Amino acid sequence: MKSFKKILVKNLKKAAKILKNKVYQGDCQKILKFIPTGSVKAVVMDGPYVLHTRKGKNTGCYAHTDYIQGIASFCEGFSVDVLKEIVRICEKINGIFFCSAAQLDFYISFFQQYDNVEIILHTWQKTNPLCAKGTMLCDTEYMVQVVDKSLLDEVDTTPEHFISPKYTKLKKKYGHGTIKPVEIMTKLIEKVSEPGDLILDPFCGTNSTGVSALMCGRDFIGCELEEEYAKVSEQRIFETMEELGIEELAHDELCGSVALGNAEEILETVEKDEFDIAFVDSTVFAGVPYTYIDSVISKMTFPCVNIWVEEKNIIDVSMRYARQGFIFDIVYSYGEKTMAMVHLRKPGKIFYGTYHTSRHFYVDDGMPFQPKSKKAKKVLVEQSVGSYEDNIPYMVMRNMVLNCTQIGDTVLALTGGGLVAEICTRTDRKFLCAVQDKEELLCCAERISKAKALKGGEAFDMNKVLTFQE
Ligand SMILES: C[S@@+](CC[C@H](N)C(=O)[O-])C[C@H]1O[C@@H](n2cnc3c(N)ncnc32)[C@H](O)[C@@H]1O
Repeated sequence: MKSFKKILVKNLKKAAKILKNKVYQGDCQKILKFIPTGSVKAVVMDGPYVLHTRKGKNTGCYAHTDYIQGIASFCEGFSVDVLKEIVRICEKINGIFFCSAAQLDFYISFFQQYDNVEIILHTWQKTNPLCAKGTMLCDTEYMVQVVDKSLLDEVDTTPEHFISPKYTKLKKKYGHGTIKPVEIMTKLIEKVSEPGDLILDPFCGTNSTGVSALMCGRDFIGCELEEEYAKVSEQRIFETMEELGIEELAHDELCGSVALGNAEEILETVEKDEFDIAFVDSTVFAGVPYTYIDSVISKMTFPCVNIWVEEKNIIDVSMRYARQGFIFDIVYSYGEKTMAMVHLRKPGKIFYGTYHTSRHFYVDDGMPFQPKSKKAKKVLVEQSVGSYEDNIPYMVMRNMVLNCTQIGDTVLALTGGGLVAEICTRTDRKFLCAVQDKEELLCCAERISKAKALKGGEAFDMNKVLTFQE
């Protein structure tokens, strides 16, 4: 649609969709569909097992032992469709797959249908195998490596035979029955990739793959079905970042788009999952724009929307969406007029770090409210570089963006004179913004330009905006 005129585009669509260094909670069969074709260097994964037992069933004669019961939910194997998606997502076929003896044929037969691949077998012999009901469980795990022959110069295919104990301590700490040793995962990741490459693990459990990827300078994407393990993954990433002295994970190049026109029409041109969070300023509409909010929600697999509302509408907005299964929090209150930000989200997406939903209060100058006390904290005050009279005070919006997103996230805010665009530029987020007229557009471009200059970046070329508008 023509009205979605991009004045600041740097490969946004491609960048916005590669949401690296995140763990997505949910069924990987659904999540993988959102990962672009050819965007991942290698898959290193430890999918649900299939175990041989004396009765020939997955859980069979061991079903009553603690261990088997603990891992029963991931001993059902998984659909071959996941492997098909992996082939699509990888730049070229390049992966290492942990499996039990019973699954070797599943992996090997699948990959043998591709002409140009080499298949290598690695093993991990555990020195502390489990004894279950008088029978030792198999002490060897297999790793099937599959690589497109054109990658043989860059990928290490030497067969490995690891001999080491299982991670009994970490299993207890993180409560996951099949946690993998970071040393082994790191070695495998190093075999198939270079620093800076993106590694995918569709069944990441407690994210041993992600942790190992960070340890050796790679990025990762993980999926995990169970909320409990997805949370552990998040915790482990924090611990690893702390250990490595990393403050924030690296993300894609910063960029954004500003569209000129009507918010509803512009929204139609935005693709599904092109953004991570939306901000809706309901005060610029006549009444709460429910149809518009619903359209925003329909554009997100894991909806996450912040709605700026007047006090009289808080209950209406919150209850309407609570009844639709949303988690809602009122996260910001501001000034004498009592405006509030209602934060809605559906469970699913895991955010790292700064995400939280505790309530913040601001006073009329947009500064955080502090009770009078000697212990009052010093607060960072940052001035906007814009001259536009924003509806929401700069500091209020800035803190909302910081608290609800992480570096590299894309924020959709289809109203206003560049407030969100300025904040995103200054805090390393991406943005999809809109302005209603030429005057706002100029103001917005000027703000982005100044914000970029503040960060020492290249200032935006104002002439391009003017030319664009002719
Ligand atoms: C063998 S475990 C992986 C353990 C992981 N390597 C670690 O070190 O923590 C397999 C994981 O896949 C998860 N899982 C099973 N089916 C899934 C699905 N359809 N989508 C995403 N995760 C799934 C299970 O919950 C389990 O945590």
